This record gives sequence, structure tokens and C-alpha cells, in this order.
Amino acid sequence: MLNNILNEYKVLVNGVQVHYGVGAFDNMDINMFRGLRWFVVTSRGGSMEKYGWIAKLAEIAERVGAWLEVCKCVSTNPTVEQADEAYENAKRFKATVVIGLGGGSSIDVAKAVAAALASHATPSKLYRGEASIKGSLPIVAIPSTHGSGSEVDRFAVLSDSKTKSKAAIVSTKIRPTYAVLDPRITATLPPRLSGATVVDALSHALESFVARNANPVSRCYAREAIHLIAKGISELMKSGWGELRVRAYFLNAAMLAGAAIDISRTTLVHALEHPISYYHPEIHHGIGLAALLPAWLDYVESVVPELIREIIEPLQKVVGGQSPSQTVKNAIKILVGETITLEKLGVSEDEYKLIAEDAMRYLKALVLNNPRLPKNIDEIVDLLRKASSE
Ligand SMILES: [Fe+2]
Repeated sequence: MLNNILNEYKVLVNGVQVHYGVGAFDNMDINMFRGLRWFVVTSRGGSMEKYGWIAKLAEIAERVGAWLEVCKCVSTNPTVEQADEAYENAKRFKATVVIGLGGGSSIDVAKAVAAALASHATPSKLYRGEASIKGSLPIVAIPSTHGSGSEVDRFAVLSDSKTKSKAAIVSTKIRPTYAVLDPRITATLPPRLSGATVVDALSHALESFVARNANPVSRCYAREAIHLIAKGISELMKSGWGELRVRAYFLNAAMLAGAAIDISRTTLVHALEHPISYYHPEIHHGIGLAALLPAWLDYVESVVPELIREIIEPLQKVVGGQSPSQTVKNAIKILVGETITLEKLGVSEDEYKLIAEDAMRYLKALVLNNPRLPKNIDEIVDLLRKASSE
């Protein structure tokens, strides 16, 4: 069928060969793997194993005579220690390609490992700037969520207790070589987690659209991402998470929003969420963003009203809302089942100053990429206070 959102396509996005569609996993082009020692990074939870995707990958490996080692070593908000451990395993295995199979966390750790192997330095050293990234092994990204966009970007986000930070290794060398986006892999993700990952993609699209570093190309990606998120939410309201088309819209949207932030980067929302989920690693990145987005929209709206109106409109048509922040609150409620606030997440007011200071300490580039520049720490604390209640 023409224009079916489930259909396979192949396209180069930001230098990444994207292979999308139902069946993409079975039809993946293993020539893109460049080598026969495949090191697979996946989550500790083991969902990829449980739902048979590891076994399917092992079958493909066997067919082409490749060796496969699976490292179930990644948690939500992965740490540099987890990346270091995966790196040691990959080095011992003599990996020739690193495959991230799972959510954004698995793909990010795969990127850090691939760069570390080519740079002869541990991921923690690369993260802390104690060694430089000299190159990377080929990276294959196979996302099981529709949120991070890590499959097409140059970031690997890790948490580090030594520097008390959660930030990204940033390098064009860690963009994946090949990204396999098959909506079927996302089909078993539980509803709330599914919605949380979409909030991440939504935040990427909104932030990149108004970012100071935005340009016509990043805005083009962000605009289409929002249209697809709106379509996905519309379909979700009719059919629920069990409908593969819902996943398909969101998977495309997440990839495009990832392409947008690869160009423009994110802004104050991500600069504040990272310290929050550093101090509260149990908080999913998308849920943390859900608490911040409405207050942030109110904060930036007066500075870029036309851009905000333009990027919110497709969503507003589907979920309503008298203001951009209300529209996003409505969308979040549909996606994750409730309105999210910092208070609900257990982030207390005593922490706001530290969170704001951390954003300025190690994520200043993102703060300075915000369309409205905070005059001082108190202004950021005030934004956090507004995000604390409905
Ligand atoms: Fe994100």
C-alpha cells in the first residue's frame, strides 16, 4: 500500500544509514556491520532476550558465520562504570562491531564502548575528557523504544558519580553506521514506559525547534516529528498501545527528533532533567522531562511566540488546550496516563538550587542554547518551583 507508515524504507540521515519498517530486522544488511565479531549491548532487564530479539540476531549471526557476544549490562540512566565494564568485555572479545539493542541507554553505552575501543581508553576517561576520541568501531543501533533518537545522533549520555554529573560524550565519530528501526521491536514496551519515551521525542522536537542553534534543516526534522507524534497520539486514543501503527508513527518521530537535536542540540529542559535523573536515577528521563516541559513552555513563550505557536499547532489540533503548556499537559496525560510534577516525582524544593547550579556547571552549553537566557540561578529555581505542582 502506498504511504503506509509500516512500510520499509532506507535513507541516509545525518550520515547514518537508516533502515526502517516492519521486517527491517529480518532484512538488515549485515554488510553494514563490517566484521564478524558482534558485541551486543543490551539492558540488564533482559527484555530483548525475553521477546526473542537476541535469538533472532544470533540466527542472523550464525547464518553469516559471525561470532556474537551479548552484554546484558545497562540500566536506566547508565553509569560510566557500566560502560567501562562493557568496554572490558568487548576488548576481551575482540569486537569488530558494537550493536546497541534496546532503549537509548543501551545504544548510548554501545556508542561509548565503540569509541573507547578505537581510542584505546575507557569510556569513563572519554567522558571525563581525560582521553580524546580518536575514532570508533562501526556502531549498529537497533532501538526498542521510540524516544531517544540516539540511533541518529552524536551523543552518548552517561552518569558519573566521580564528577557528580549526567552529561553526554559528544562526537560526530559516534553516530551509528547503521540504524535498524523495526516497529515490532517496540511492541512489547509497557504503556507508561512507551509514553515516557515519546515524551523524550516530544521534548527533543520542541526544544530543537526554538533552540538558538536551530536552522531550517533541524526545524524541518522537528516539524515532521511533531506531526508524526500528533498522528501517533490520535491513533493511540482510538486504538491503544497494541496497535503497531501507533508505534510506527512514534518510531519515525523519535528518529527525526533525534536528527533535529543532532544538529541543534537541546536546551534548558534537558539541562535541568539530567541533574534531576542523576540525583534520582529511578526517574525515567522522559518522565523527568514531562514534569519540566509545561513550565518551560510558559517560560519561553513570550520570547518566541510564533515559533511556539507553529510547533504546538499539530498537537493542539489533536489534544486541545488553551495554551501551549496546557496542550503539552494534555498530551502527557494521554501518553503516560497522568500529569507529572516534580513533587509527584519526589524531587523536593531543597534540591532546586543544586539542580539549577549543576545545569550551569556542566550543561551551560544547553542553557545558553535556550531561546530565553536565565538572568540568574533564582530564575531557574523559580521555573523548577512552577514545575513542582499542576
Ligand atoms: Fe532526551
